[in-house]
Amino acid sequence: MTDQFAKKSEAWSARFSEPVADLVKRYTASVDFDKRLARFDIEGSLAHADMLHAVGLLSATDLQSIQGGMQQIQTEVDQGRFNWSLDLEDVHLNIEKRLTDLVGDAGKRLHTARSRNDQVATDIRLWLRATLDEIGELLRSLQHALVDLAERHADTIMPGFTHLQVAQPVTFGHHLMAYVEMFSRDATRMQDCRRRANRLPLGAAALAGTSYPIDRERVARTLGFDGVCENSLDAVSDRDFAIEFCAAAAILMTHVSRLSEELVIWMSPRVGFIDLADRFCTGSSIMPQKKNPDVPELARGKTGRVNGHLVSLLTLMKGQPLAYNKDNQEDKEPLFDTADTVINTLRIFADLVGGITVKADRMRQAAAEGFSTATDLADYLVRKGLAFRDAHEAVAHAVRVASDAQVDLAHLSLAQLQAICPAIGEDAYAALTLEGSVQSRNHLGGTAPQQVRAAVLRARQRLAHVQG
Ligand code: ARG
Repeated sequence: MTDQFAKKSEAWSARFSEPVADLVKRYTASVDFDKRLARFDIEGSLAHADMLHAVGLLSATDLQSIQGGMQQIQTEVDQGRFNWSLDLEDVHLNIEKRLTDLVGDAGKRLHTARSRNDQVATDIRLWLRATLDEIGELLRSLQHALVDLAERHADTIMPGFTHLQVAQPVTFGHHLMAYVEMFSRDATRMQDCRRRANRLPLGAAALAGTSYPIDRERVARTLGFDGVCENSLDAVSDRDFAIEFCAAAAILMTHVSRLSEELVIWMSPRVGFIDLADRFCTGSSIMPQKKNPDVPELARGKTGRVNGHLVSLLTLMKGQPLAYNKDNQEDKEPLFDTADTVINTLRIFADLVGGITVKADRMRQAAAEGFSTATDLADYLVRKGLAFRDAHEAVAHAVRVASDAQVDLAHLSLAQLQAICPAIGEDAYAALTLEGSVQSRNHLGGTAPQQVRAAVLRARQRLAHVQG
């Protein structure tokens, strides 16, 4: 081990006379977690080598050797045969060393006009770009699942809540489409983050650029970047894109968490609006009757750690002078864990939503019980000529009478209603029905079944046009 390390230590410093203590080595190494960047590190190196050859800094033979060596390394990594060494600190030095073992001097020439500082910044951007695309796809599947369920329940009536008190009847489809709006905004936030992340740091070298006649645009094109980072100091030290991603992920998880909270409430036997498929739930080891909504609970819990990662990255950056500092190595674990959490959560949720059983009778009953059409009766009285405040007062009175009698508003007799407000006629009962209430909110953004179907259509059209 000491031997191997001594070899590596020679590579970057003849200045140090003794090997770093083992603890420090473990403390500073990142290979355990950054090895997952291997594919992107290789991709970046190949693009860099191609450019070095194009500008005359690398022979055709050397380029071929590097390409062949990298291909073998990729295979070793894919097959789990690559021998990652802590002594070689990080993914970059591990791969470069292996390349040199495989192809000799050509491998030693690869690092011309490059530093690990611009190399790592490039790798993470490539990784994040692929991650954002994957999240985009998963958000699409989740939205599809919600839209399908919403369409099936465009007419299903449930109580809408404010302050978790029954407020007005809404359709379940409308409620679900609210989440489609949220996840659609999340998808655009991810796309927006991708646009800013998709720029090439390579060429910045350590911090100041390089004296070699490099062609950065060529590398950018090869790697599919939209352009190059235009300031070398910024290129190696910027991690905005990582913070942006964590912020977008935290908002996304907040939406998942709110949905989870509702699923948990809806599934409580006290409420009983829905049931989740057994495969998303577990039983209790002591209470045989239990079926617990573990998946939504965990998603709600995992939102906390994603929020934490955002704070980690913001804190990581706030005190750093330009340009690169080793602090930046700490960006990876929060980033990777954010991506893993979001991806796993979305994967499960698309399936979970598809497996929701809706208990429409219970929803309807709850809407009928909570005086949810009181506002409709007030609106009816306004149509009969009362000022809204007077109508509000009259209906509040009626609610009290009904509540004392433990019946719904629609069960009060016409005589009882007229005693409260003489303007009330037989036709008031139509305004008090749940169907009448939701159907009357028939405008863009309203809860009427017709509007839910229109929203479903718009969402499907939008989803068909979003690129991955
Ligand atoms: N492992 C390092 C990181 O993640 C790579 C860059 C190291 N550069 C350096 N000069 N030490 O940031």
